[in-house]
Amino acid sequence: MKMVRSIQEMKQAASSHRAGGASIGLVPTMGYFHEGHLSLMRSARSENDMVVVSLFVNPIQFRPGEDLDRYPRDLNRDAELALGVGVDILFVPETADIYPKGFCAKISVEGLSDRLCGESRPGHFQGVATVVAKLFHIVQPRRAYFGLKDFQQTAVIRRMVEDLNFDIEIITLPTVRESDGLAMSSRNSYLSAEERISARSLKESLDLAVQRIKEGERSADRIRTIIRERIAREKLARMDYVSVSSPESLQEVSVIEGEVLVALAVFVGRTRLIDNVLVHP
Ligand code: PAJ
Repeated sequence: MKMVRSIQEMKQAASSHRAGGASIGLVPTMGYFHEGHLSLMRSARSENDMVVVSLFVNPIQFRPGEDLDRYPRDLNRDAELALGVGVDILFVPETADIYPKGFCAKISVEGLSDRLCGESRPGHFQGVATVVAKLFHIVQPRRAYFGLKDFQQTAVIRRMVEDLNFDIEIITLPTVRESDGLAMSSRNSYLSAEERISARSLKESLDLAVQRIKEGERSADRIRTIIRERIAREKLARMDYVSVSSPESLQEVSVIEGEVLVALAVFVGRTRLIDNVLVHP
């Protein structure tokens, strides 16, 4: 495995592999790898001749006061884990190279970006779309891999790829969970032992929602209430949002007819966690 820091070197390596007919799979990440990241890398490994993983903590997708400065980092450990699953290139660009002085282009995917997480984190998905578009241009992969844990992110990126004619196949993979159900996240490392127990309430509330929908509940508001009540029982948890929406438009529904996305964000202590599930009534 090669670690590449320069954009120019990354472009050259990718273009020479493409010229030789190799397919490139790209896994964009912000590092501090866990099984969720590794599952994307393993799929990329099995479906492409060459696997590039980018590791870049993207400042423009964080809002002032969020956790940019304390976002967990461990490059040596990440490099070992990536090596272990057969990654060819770990691309670790410098912030000053990705956003040189004077940088001012932004990509907006309107509508989809404004709902759910976009409401509590304005500008977040513009930051995500912008950096992912840059990575797509630098690496020009045939396929790119994203986790459904960040469902809205996958929706925004699919829309961007379609609207802006990127010739890249977007592959999405299921949420990888801890044994008690908590969705794996680099941010779980912020949780104290007590908060870690409280964090189970996210998946537990989603399980309750799924059960009620399967039993025939068709009122989206009832489902939202069930989730709110489950989270309210946790002393250390504070609801950010709960949503029952159409998986295509991410618009809230009132009656559950077709498939819905049930999604939530919860502050456990200072840590904001998200989770979601797709449910067929
Ligand atoms: P990051 O949070 O590091 O996640 C990188 C990729 O791993 C994303 O596609 C995310 O959905 C996926 N992932 C995270 N936790 C997962 C889990 N428990 N199961 C399955 N997949 C999981 O998402 C980002 O970085 C950034 O926004 C990025 C796309 C790199 C742009 O900066």
